Amino acid sequence: PTTSPLIIAVDGPTASGKGTIAKALAAHYGLPHLDTGLLYRAVGRQVELNLGNPDDAADALAACEFPTSLLDDPELRSETTGGLASRVSIHHGVRQALFARQRAFATQGRGAVLDGRDIGTVIAPEARAKLFITASVAARAKRRHLEMIAAGRESQLDEIAADLAARDERDRNRKEAPLRAAVDAATLDTSELSRDAAIAAAIALVDSRIG
Ligand code: DC
Repeated sequence: PTTSPLIIAVDGPTASGKGTIAKALAAHYGLPHLDTGLLYRAVGRQVELNLGNPDDAADALAACEFPTSLLDDPELRSETTGGLASRVSIHHGVRQALFARQRAFATQGRGAVLDGRDIGTVIAPEARAKLFITASVAARAKRRHLEMIAAGRESQLDEIAADLAARDERDRNRKEAPLRAAVDAATLDTSELSRDAAIAAAIALVDSRIG
């Protein structure tokens, strides 16, 4: 009997733990993983390299032609690039340009784990398991701050918290594909959970969905 691919959608705001959880789920179920935020980050970074304006639809669309090698640029992980990614991601042309690539990844072979903002709602509404990962702004800011320090970067906790809140606001209120839990998503709040506890809870939720 043919079974549909096992697509696992992991959505949520920045620094919620969705990336860590998605990676762990991919390892657990033996599936490939795509961090879709990285694609938007590459577009944001490319706009900057082009000296373009991230709020301009044509400049943002032109930046979708980024070279694949840009995905390895450590600068993609910075808060500055995260902010640029959030700004370019509101443009319809950008979302459309990145759609096919994400869709192809989701439907390959036995399936895949994708993390982002709109995987369960737009990219793979048919996903067999959908998780919406949340955490308080304070918990997320603290995590991001510690990550930055560990990576040897400058970081100010209050600035990080303000950036996160601004980014959430933009991602939640944009017209197209806003950050939102799919109606059939299971929500997991990681504010009070250790990394291992969050991963265990996510695996239990996915198991309960896929039977
Ligand atoms: O998950 P992240 O912080 O790397 O995402 C960076 C930005 O990219 C995020 O603020 C909004 C955008 N994004 C999106 O619009 N849709 C996705 N599926 C993933 C990211």
